[in-house]
Amino acid sequence: MRQLIAGNWKMNGTRASASALLSALRQEAPGCGCAMLVCPPATLLALAADALAGSTIGVGGQDCHARPSGAHTGDVSPVQLRDAGASHVILGHSERRQDHAETDAQVRAKAEAAIAAGLVPVVCVGETRAERESGRAEAVVGGQISASLPAGFAAAGGVVAYEPVWAIGTGLTPTEAEVAAMHGFIRGRLAEAFGGAGRGTLILYGGSVKPSNAAVLLALPEVGGALVGGASLAAGDFLGIARAARTG
Ligand code: PGA
Repeated sequence: MRQLIAGNWKMNGTRASASALLSALRQEAPGCGCAMLVCPPATLLALAADALAGSTIGVGGQDCHARPSGAHTGDVSPVQLRDAGASHVILGHSERRQDHAETDAQVRAKAEAAIAAGLVPVVCVGETRAERESGRAEAVVGGQISASLPAGFAAAGGVVAYEPVWAIGTGLTPTEAEVAAMHGFIRGRLAEAFGGAGRGTLILYGGSVKPSNAAVLLALPEVGGALVGGASLAAGDFLGIARAARTG
């Protein structure tokens, strides 16, 4: 299956820096046969959608509210993301779970709202270092999978991103065996929950993916692509990762 390379810009980028990055990506994207997605901050979403219109690169949000509109100061709704040109939205990123105390139930409600608005949810799961060291990584991720994904998730083409919290922005990555084992575990849980549709769900790996480790990570069984943070902010690095991805 064609892999998906998604860039999570987090709270980075101005109109000037985004325009330069997007035009470099747009120019080189035809040489990368994988699916590509950039997730800029909400302020840059419409600019990114315009800059990438007609290209092979999609645009996604980094979070959304669970309601389509209303009195929720500072929030952005899935309908608004769609209106700005997004096709996807990242939900339940560990930085949201940590900084904003987001719960699995909230992530699930957001995913439901995203699907209702016509967006593909990219739901992040992953254990902390302490949870891995105490042998609870699968229990934690399994719990997040069962509580964060709504019933219609797989049928709507939802994507899961496995991001060990301790690997995000640290330069550390799990071993190949650890990534393969966790992706296999997640696949099993998705197949149990969603049957045939769950067997086709893309499972991205995220956490310190860079051009130098992308080929190894992307070749592991059940790895359907990558969710890239820091390395998505430099066109050469993001494209280097995309060139390592499977195209069919
Ligand atoms: P990183 O972030 O690639 O900078 O580790 C990944 C993520 O948080 O999605």
